[in-house]
Amino acid sequence: MKKISYTFFTITSLLVLNSCGKKTETDPMGNPVEQSTTATQTPEELGKEIFEGKGTCTTCHRADTKVIGPSIKEISKVYKDKKASIALFLKGEGEPLVDPSQYEVMKANFAITKTLSDEELEALEAYMHSLNK
Ligand code: HEC
Repeated sequence: MKKISYTFFTITSLLVLNSCGKKTETDPMGNPVEQSTTATQTPEELGKEIFEGKGTCTTCHRADTKVIGPSIKEISKVYKDKKASIALFLKGEGEPLVDPSQYEVMKANFAITKTLSDEELEALEAYMHSLNK
């Protein structure tokens, strides 16, 4: 038993060491490059991070099921069908297309989404559409 846990420990340490190794990549000048997650992040990944993080969108939106707001898949479907822009909606420049009767609830979140950059809004849109495949 002891041997097994020792082996496990060794493997885990190797994995940890290995992932640290990646962080100390150097640029062409030989300077260590700061590990930056945004550089390798796809728009979908950035969108997911905002959706679940500072956007607090998951409080009301889940992938498949309606909670307080419509499911992400439903929203994505409506926006694809109508060829509309989620990013524009989140800037407060669009019309509610999914559930206009509940628009006031969603509108309160424009306080957050209006502070996001275009890149972040487009990332949110990319993430939401990526769940509807
Ligand atoms: C307090 C609950 C709540 C939170 C938090 C919330 N939403 Fe919503 N959202 C709603 C409700 C309710 C609707 C349905 C009303 C509507 O369609 O406008 C909605 C609708 C939407 C729609 C469809 C709008 C349309 O055209 O009808 C989008 C897109 C959306 N939300 C994105 C987001 C994103 C992105 C976030 C995070 C930044 C977010 N929501 C956070 C409640 C919420």
